[in-house]
This record gives sequence, C-alpha cells and structure tokens, in this order.
Amino acid sequence: MKHARPSPGGPPRVRSWTRHGGLLLAAGALPFLLQAPAARAAESACQPCHAEQVEAASKGPHAGIATREPRYCESCHGDAARHLESGSAADIVGKAALGKADAKARSMACLTCHRSGFPGWEGTPHSRSAEVSCWSCHGDSWHDAKGKAAKKRGEGACASCHVEQVSEFRRVYRHPVLEGRMGCASCHDVHGKSAGGKKGPEATCLECHPESAGPWVFPHRAIEDGCSSCHVPHGSVNRSLLKTSGNGVCLTCHVQTNFPAAGKVPHNRYLQGGGKCLDCHSEVHGSNVDELMAPQYRKR
Ligand code: HEC
Ligand code: HEC
Ligand code: HEC
Ligand code: HEC
Ligand code: HEC
Ligand code: HEC
Ligand code: HEC
Ligand code: HEC
Ligand code: HEC
Ligand code: HEC
Repeated sequence: MKHARPSPGGPPRVRSWTRHGGLLLAAGALPFLLQAPAARAAESACQPCHAEQVEAASKGPHAGIATREPRYCESCHGDAARHLESGSAADIVGKAALGKADAKARSMACLTCHRSGFPGWEGTPHSRSAEVSCWSCHGDSWHDAKGKAAKKRGEGACASCHVEQVSEFRRVYRHPVLEGRMGCASCHDVHGKSAGGKKGPEATCLECHPESAGPWVFPHRAIEDGCSSCHVPHGSVNRSLLKTSGNGVCLTCHVQTNFPAAGKVPHNRYLQGGGKCLDCHSEVHGSNVDELMAPQYRKR
C-alpha cells in the first residue's frame, strides 16, 4: 500500500503548522507547536552538541526533510531559540515533556506534516485507543539510523501489544508472516487510509488469492459469507488454514436434523468408513463443470 508522501521536494510542510496553530490547539496538540515561530535554527545548529541525533536523522526515513528543513528538530522539540543560548535542558521540550504527551498529541506531531496522507486515521481502532499513536509503531522514525523499520520488521511493530495474534503465526499451518514473506500490514490497513473503501482485512484475501472467488459457473454460495466461514486468517492447527478439522467445516452449515442426509440427498452410504466431504465435493470454492462441485465423481 502506497501512501502519498508529504510534498517531497516541494515547500516543506513544516512551515504551515504555525499558520494552522489555532486548529491544532482545538485538536489538543502539543503546546509547543503553538509557540511563536522560532528564529531559524538549522539542524546544523544542533550538530555541535547533538551529533548523534542529527546524523541518525540524516540516515533514517526522514533523511530528506531533516537535511532540507532547518526546523525539522523543532517539529517535536519546539522553539529552540532559548535552548541554543542557554544549552539548558530546561529550555527545550525534552524527554520528560514528550513522555507525558498523550497519544492524540503524539500523533498530531506527525500529522502536522503527514495530514494529507492518512485521511482515514481518525476512524481506526488505534486512533480511538488512548494508548496507541503513530509513535507506537514508528518510534524509531525521528533519530534512529536504522529507521525505515516499520516496514522491514514486519510483525515486530505489532508484537508488543498483540502477542496472542503473533503466536497464532507459530501454528503448523499459517500465513508466512514470521518467515518474512508478508507482514501484518499485508492484510491490515493500519492507517485506515482506505476506510470506507475496503470492507476489511478479508477483502484483501482476493488480492493474493483471486482464483478462490471465481467467477464460477457453479459458485459455492458459502463464499458469499466470506472466506472466514471456513478459514482463519492467521494460523491454524488444521491444514489449509481451516477453522475445524475433517468434515466439521462443512457441517457447520450443512448439518440437518435428518443427517447424514445433506440437502435432499441421503449420505449414509457416502460417509461410511469415514468418508470426507472433500473426497467428492472437491472444488470447494466453486466449479465450472459441476453444479455439485465434484467433477471427478460424475465422470466415473
Ligand atoms: C551548545 C550546545 C547545544 C546546542 C547547539 C544544542 N543543544 Fe540541546 N542540549 C544541550 C545540553 C548541554 C543539553 C543537556 C544535556 C543533559 O542534560 O544531559 C541538551 C539537551 C537537549 C535535549 C534533551 C532535553 C531532555 O531533557 O530530554 C533536546 C531535545 C535538545 N537538547 C534539543 C536540541 C535541539 C533541537 C537543538 C538544535 C535546535 C539543540 N538541542 C542544540 C546542548 C546543546
Ligand atoms: C517536519 C515535517 C514532518 C514531521 C513532523 C514528520 N514527518 Fe514523516 N516525513 C516527512 C517527509 C517530508 C517525508 C518524506 C521523506 C523525506 O523527505 O525525508 C517523511 C517520511 C516519513 C516516513 C518514511 C516514508 C517512506 O516512504 O519510507 C515515515 C515512516 C514517516 N515519515 C513517519 C513519520 C512519523 C511517525 C512522524 C511523527 C513521529 C513523522 N513522520 C513526522 C515529513 C515529516
Ligand atoms: C518526530 C519527533 C521528533 C523529532 C522530529 C526529533 N526528535 Fe528528538 N526526541 C524525540 C523524542 C520522542 C525523544 C525522547 C525519546 C527518544 O529518545 O527517542 C527525543 C529525544 C531527543 C534528545 C534526548 C536524547 C536522550 O537520550 O536524552 C535529543 C538530544 C534530541 N531528541 C535531539 C533532536 C534533534 C537534534 C533533532 C533533529 C535532528 C530531533 N531531536 C528531532 C522526538 C523527536
Ligand atoms: C499499528 C502500527 C502503526 C501505526 C499506529 C501507524 N503506522 Fe505508519 N506504518 C506502519 C507499518 C507496518 C508501515 C509499513 C507497511 C505499509 O503500510 O506498507 C507503515 C508505513 C508508514 C509510512 C510510510 C509510507 C507507506 O505507506 O509505506 C508513513 C509515512 C507512516 N506509516 C506514517 C504514519 C503516521 C503519520 C501515523 C499516525 C497517524 C502512523 N504511521 C501510524 C505501522 C503503523
Ligand atoms: C501500542 C500498542 C499497539 C501496537 C504497537 C499495535 N496495536 Fe493494534 N491495537 C491496539 C489497541 C489498544 C487496539 C484497540 C483494541 C480494542 O479496541 O479492543 C488495537 C486494535 C487493533 C486491531 C482491531 C482489533 C479489533 O478487534 O477490531 C487490529 C486489526 C490491530 N490492532 C492490528 C495491529 C497491527 C497489524 C499492528 C502492527 C502494525 C498493531 N495492531 C500494533 C494496540 C496496539
Ligand atoms: C492473511 C491476512 C492477515 C494477516 C497476514 C494478518 N491478519 Fe490479523 N486479521 C485478519 C482477518 C481477516 C481478521 C479478522 C477480522 C474480522 O473478523 O473482522 C484479523 C483479525 C485481527 C485482530 C483482531 C482480533 C482477532 O484476533 O480477531 C488483530 C488484533 C489482528 N488481526 C492482528 C494481526 C497482527 C498483529 C498480524 C501480524 C502478526 C496480523 N493480524 C496479520 C487478517 C490478517
Ligand atoms: C499478501 C498476500 C496474501 C494475502 C493478502 C492473503 N494470503 Fe493467503 N497465502 C499467501 C501466501 C504467500 C501463502 C503461503 C503459500 C505457500 O506457502 O506456498 C498463503 C496461504 C494461504 C492458504 C493455505 C494454502 C495451502 O495450500 O495450504 C490459505 C487457505 C489462504 N492463504 C487463505 C487466505 C485468506 C482466507 C486470506 C484473507 C484473510 C488470505 N489468504 C490473504 C498470501 C496471501
Ligand atoms: C465453504 C468453505 C470455504 C470457503 C467459504 C472458502 N474456502 Fe478456501 N478452502 C476451503 C477448503 C475445504 C480448502 C481445502 C481444499 C482442498 O484441500 O482440496 C480450501 C483451500 C483454499 C486455498 C488453498 C489452495 C486451493 O485453492 O485449494 C486457498 C488459497 C483458499 N482456500 C482461499 C480462500 C479464499 C481467499 C476464500 C474467500 C474468497 C475462501 N478460500 C473461501 C474451504 C473454503
Ligand atoms: C457458510 C456456510 C457453508 C459452509 C461452511 C459450507 N457450505 Fe456448502 N453451501 C452453502 C450454501 C448457502 C449453499 C447453497 C445451497 C443451499 O442453500 O443449501 C451450499 C451448497 C453446497 C452444495 C450443493 C451445491 C448447490 O448448488 O446446491 C454442496 C455440494 C456443498 N455446499 C458442499 C459443501 C462442502 C463440501 C463444504 C465443506 C468444505 C461446505 N459445503 C461448506 C453454505 C455452506
Ligand atoms: C462419496 C461421495 C460423497 C461424499 C463423501 C459426500 N457427498 Fe455430498 N453428495 C454426493 C453426491 C453424489 C451428491 C448428489 C446426489 C445426487 O445427485 O443424487 C451429493 C449431494 C450433496 C449436496 C446437495 C444436496 C441437494 O440438496 O441437492 C450437499 C449439500 C452435499 N452433498 C454435502 C455434503 C457434505 C456436507 C458432505 C460431508 C459431510 C458430503 N456431501 C459428503 C456425494 C458425496
């Protein structure tokens, strides 16, 4: 999923947050964003004393803006004019103040520049939560040379809070997330950019498995209820990521009072000796040749 970058190469957005100060106050932004525009304190002004952060920033995901925009550091640390004179930690928004900022204010410190890229953010469960902000997953985006990590570390960005889901990917049948072949974000739109478009993570199944949904001449109408009628998304002890083993997955919908009849047809004979639904109804998503999804059986 590609999101629009904030005006790369264009006039840096960092200048416009001062103009929108009033709006930010209403949204509960970090108070330092509202301070009067500072004297231009280029990040090279920080270099002599904070080489570590300046160099890391110039190698991380913000390399472009950090080297181009003199006030990049101030977008989180606030007006640095007094600090530049005194060199005193008390004169800058430092660790303690940033540590106290709530989730909404933390996200706002990013959205001042990234606001156009994430229109659906406000509607996501993460943004509604009091404990999650952009920083929760991008905590290394400001001055960490390793940067760019959210994408690369895959489930690592999620593991600290969603231990249970991550452990589902250790089951014997699973999507290859821990193997690094896909990430949590392959299915979950963490930023809610497309909120209102996609119905949810399940809609993305078809981006990678388009063949499952046909179109079939004889579709299995179970598909209408979604892939999750039969599959679990993360990992399973049953092959093919099925919810239950054996015939169970079919019987959740097809069991009836006169079982082992299925539909109008008695199945005693078929199920003798441990017959499996899939032995005969093998084209379980749909078929182009057989309305009962079992071409092999009929040809005989
Ligand atoms: C002349 C040296 C000097 C310059 C230039 C300088 N600082 Fe500092 N800065 C310090 C000192 C000294 C401290 C206090 C370190 C400590 O207490 O451990 C500090 C602390 C900080 C802290 C941490 C405060 C905290 O308590 O967490 C931040 C953030 C900071 N500076 C940002 C900046 C930024 C941004 C710039 C450039 C705009 C800058 N500094 C320029 C000397 C400087
Ligand atoms: C001062 C404006 C500004 C602020 C504040 C800002 N960003 Fe950025 N961000 C940019 C720009 C511009 C880019 C495009 C790359 C560049 O020019 O450095 C970018 C790039 C990124 C990227 C990498 C995009 C890619 O395609 O690899 C990530 C991730 C990111 N920002 C996350 C954040 C987060 C999280 C925050 C808040 C902690 C934040 N940004 C705060 C301006 C900003
Ligand atoms: C997107 C927000 C953001 C930007 C931009 C940013 N910082 Fe920070 N900075 C933080 C946060 C949050 C902390 C405290 C947690 C941490 O160390 O990561 C911090 C901590 C610091 C510290 C204290 C480190 C320590 O371990 O005591 C210094 C010094 C500092 N930043 C300097 C800078 C400089 C210089 C720049 C510009 C190159 C900059 N920061 C840009 C968010 C930011
Ligand atoms: C729940 C974790 C999480 C949260 C919260 C989160 N992100 Fe991300 N972000 C990711 C992951 C994972 C990726 C890389 C995967 C992807 O979407 O392609 C990413 C990618 C990005 C990128 C790179 C551009 C891209 O799409 O490849 C930017 C910029 C970004 N995030 C900014 C933000 C901002 C701003 C916020 C807060 C409004 C935020 N993120 C909140 C996990 C998160
Ligand atoms: C800082 C903790 C934290 C991190 C990191 C985090 N999440 Fe979450 N996540 C939450 C919280 C809190 C909720 C809201 C739970 C609720 O509403 O029940 C949530 C909700 C969700 C939901 C919706 C759950 C539901 O029942 O609708 C999904 C999906 C999700 N997160 C995926 C991710 C993914 C993918 C990542 C990594 C890219 C991630 N989360 C990273 C804390 C986190
Ligand atoms: C193959 C696609 C896919 C991948 C990969 C994936 N998820 Fe999910 N996830 C889903 C679907 C589908 C749901 C069910 C949504 C529903 O029922 O509304 C879901 C549900 C969730 C929920 C809600 C609670 C629950 O268990 O139902 C959380 C939290 C979550 N996923 C986190 C993660 C994390 C963390 C990762 C990476 C370690 C991840 N997911 C990877 C598709 C995926
Ligand atoms: C980003 C691509 C991607 C998405 C999205 C995705 N899958 Fe997968 N799926 C894979 C990969 C890769 C494998 C592993 C194939 C392999 O190991 O050869 C796989 C395996 C499977 C398998 C097991 C296949 C087998 O032969 O055992 C099932 C079933 C499956 N996916 C269903 C789903 C469902 C249901 C969803 C939506 C919740 C989904 N997939 C979303 C890529 C994806
Ligand atoms: C009625 C139950 C059911 C539904 C609904 C269903 N599947 Fe399946 N799926 C199965 C069964 C059973 C298998 C194992 C087939 C086998 O072993 O021959 C399977 C196998 C798969 C496989 C492995 C490769 C293959 O085609 O055999 C993928 C991928 C897959 N399903 C994806 C999906 C997706 C995506 C959806 C939603 C569009 C979906 N399934 C809906 C029952 C279902
Ligand atoms: C989510 C519910 C659901 C599940 C699970 C399910 N089915 Fe179905 N199945 C349906 C519906 C709905 C129809 C349409 C006919 C009907 O209403 O009975 C159908 C029809 C069929 C038909 C008859 C085809 C037709 O058009 O009349 C066969 C054969 C069948 N299913 C086999 C299976 C098998 C084998 C499984 C297990 C892999 C399975 N079903 C799992 C809902 C389901
Ligand atoms: C040995 C092969 C065989 C097995 C095993 C089997 N079936 Fe069938 N099934 C058939 C045949 C053949 C028909 C069609 C009979 C006819 O046309 O007279 C049928 C018909 C059906 C129908 C459609 C009935 C109608 O109303 O038209 C459903 C639904 C069905 N089976 C479900 C299942 C389920 C669920 C299982 C597993 C519990 C299963 N079958 C196991 C051979 C089998």
